[in-house]
Amino acid sequence: MAENGARKAYDQEVASDLAEREERRKKRMKCFAYVAAFAVFHTAVILVFALVVMKVRMPKFRVRSAAFEDFQVSTLNTNASFSTKMIAELSVKNANFGRYKYQNSTIEFFYQNYKVGEAVVPRGKANFRSTKKFVIPVDLSSANVPGDVLGNELSQHAWIPLTSRATLRGKLMLMLIFKKNKSTDMNCTMNLNISSRQLQDLKCS
Ligand SMILES: *[C@@H]1O[C@H](CO)[C@@H](O)[C@H](O)[C@H]1NC(C)=O
Ligand SMILES: *[C@@H]1O[C@H](CO)[C@@H](O)[C@H](O)[C@H]1NC(C)=O
Ligand SMILES: *[C@@H]1O[C@H](CO)[C@@H](O)[C@H](O)[C@H]1NC(C)=O
Ligand SMILES: *[C@@H]1O[C@H](CO)[C@@H](O)[C@H](O)[C@H]1NC(C)=O
Ligand SMILES: *[C@@H]1O[C@H](CO)[C@@H](O)[C@H](O)[C@H]1NC(C)=O
Repeated sequence: MAENGARKAYDQEVASDLAEREERRKKRMKCFAYVAAFAVFHTAVILVFALVVMKVRMPKFRVRSAAFEDFQVSTLNTNASFSTKMIAELSVKNANFGRYKYQNSTIEFFYQNYKVGEAVVPRGKANFRSTKKFVIPVDLSSANVPGDVLGNELSQHAWIPLTSRATLRGKLMLMLIFKKNKSTDMNCTMNLNISSRQLQDLKCS
């Protein structure tokens, strides 16, 4: 009888020991599962961060539109000329997760390879994922263009093809701490329609 009781107590002890061990094993597995899940989550967060937030996107500098004042044009075949004050609306589009601060620069307009105007682009900044728009006046004139070259152009159609070029140099601030130099080129083509006195076919690359 006494022996039987001792045996029972022993069995119970073994059983509870097993249960305890099983409990600990389960706890360890759970712990591993948490650690693994956290590692996966962490990796995903870092990947998203690297691929989306820290990715450097080229800021885009372009001419958006323009209005003209004091428009003068002569279509003489041998001695054509034009002059006007262009009120150009420009934009700097910044798709980055951080602001883009750029230095002052110069924008130049050309007819073929002849410069027909230039203006200072004041320094400024385009905020976190936004487009900064501003207006600058540019005096356009065919003073550097031989009159017969322009005359030949205007004898064929009533518009003057122009291009605009500029380089913006600046700094990109990612996540408020990482600074990166980034410069961007403007390269736009447009036609100045001399009968409507408007810009048309404006394209920037
Ligand atoms: C061409 O026209 C401009 C004014 O538009 C004038 O000053 C210039 O003398 C002319 N040149 C010739 C060669 O006719
Ligand atoms: C920018 O401004 C500085 C001084 O304000 C001037 O020296 C420099 O030539 C300007 N740069 C351009 C590209 O206009
Ligand atoms: C960034 O550009 C500035 C001048 O604008 C220059 O002094 C600096 O060394 C450049 N930094 C890097 C990392 O290229
Ligand atoms: C500007 O873009 C035109 C096409 O849109 C291209 O033919 C030309 O080479 C570009 N110029 C520069 C300086 O990138
Ligand atoms: C220039 O403007 C005139 C007047 O608005 C228009 O009739 C003409 O089609 C335009 N030219 C081109 C090449 O679109």
